[in-house]
Amino acid sequence: MKFTAIATALLAGSTSAFVATKSPSSSSTALQANIAVFGASGLTAQECVYQALKDGDSVFGLTRNPANVVVPKGSGGADADKPIVDDKLTVIGGDVTNAADVAKVFENDIDGVIVALGGKTSDVGDSMLTDGTNNIISAMKAKGVKRMAVVTSIGAGDSKDQAPFAFKILMMTVMKKIFNDKNNQEKAVEESGLEYCIVRPGGLTVDAPTGVINVIDGEAGSIPRADVAQFCLEAVKDAEFPYIGKAPCISSVGGTSWVKDRSASARGQA
Ligand SMILES: NC(=O)c1ccc[n+]([C@@H]2O[C@H](COP(=O)([O-])OP(=O)(O)OC[C@H]3O[C@@H](n4cnc5c(N)ncnc54)[C@H](OP(=O)(O)O)[C@@H]3O)[C@@H](O)[C@H]2O)c1
Repeated sequence: MKFTAIATALLAGSTSAFVATKSPSSSSTALQANIAVFGASGLTAQECVYQALKDGDSVFGLTRNPANVVVPKGSGGADADKPIVDDKLTVIGGDVTNAADVAKVFENDIDGVIVALGGKTSDVGDSMLTDGTNNIISAMKAKGVKRMAVVTSIGAGDSKDQAPFAFKILMMTVMKKIFNDKNNQEKAVEESGLEYCIVRPGGLTVDAPTGVINVIDGEAGSIPRADVAQFCLEAVKDAEFPYIGKAPCISSVGGTSWVKDRSASARGQA
């Protein structure tokens, strides 16, 4: 199944809707690709893995916990949380901060790379995002892989003023170290010379995909991880993706208010 990306200006030019529609006639999107997903057990990364496999792509995922690569809640429906069984899925157990582990992914012929790493700095360290992404960039360059999508966050880099007020407070306090790492990660990507898209989502949910992704110039709202994943997959598969070399803030249809992060309950932690 091929995808066609259509960027349409909406809402007085302050927001554009990235509408991904399945089309059998697209010529700009690779029909089947080999996609590397870093942080493959994560809630957004699971969506990337699952949706890519559904599209017929081959997926090479890296995570420290391969058993946690399961069918995602948003797209998975009744199969959510079951193991993903697919001949086109290769999960490599490893740490992204270890260059040798990252190199194992690139032993395969990779067409595009999605980086959806995350975690509390108390669990993953102060610089995992930056160190890991630098390893990925080095490996991509060594292997001639050009295209990457990197999930960071609303509020990172020059999008600070697009974060809702309450989230800004968190960014300056409890999330200060995370945002320092995210800012350094973004800088590494921007300076990589690769065909990148830095994807800055608003508040993430585990809802079903809406299929419509608003690129927001103003304050961002919430978005299902399933829609973020679709945007990332388009970014690495569509030769004419309109946000290459850019860092769009994205929210879903349904307003611009921040919603409570439900990551913990999605992981069975609350
Ligand atoms: N929560 C929100 O509302 C929100 C809003 C905007 C942006 N974001 C950002 O969006 C991104 C994705 O969020 P998410 O909640 O979907 O992610 P997540 O569920 O926290 O997943 C992150 C993944 O990163 C992996 N990881 C951490 N350290 C690693 C290492 N050293 N080597 C390999 N993998 C490692 C973890 O896998 P293992 O532990 O299994 O290795 C984990 O599954 C994050 O950067 C997050 O900050 C979140």
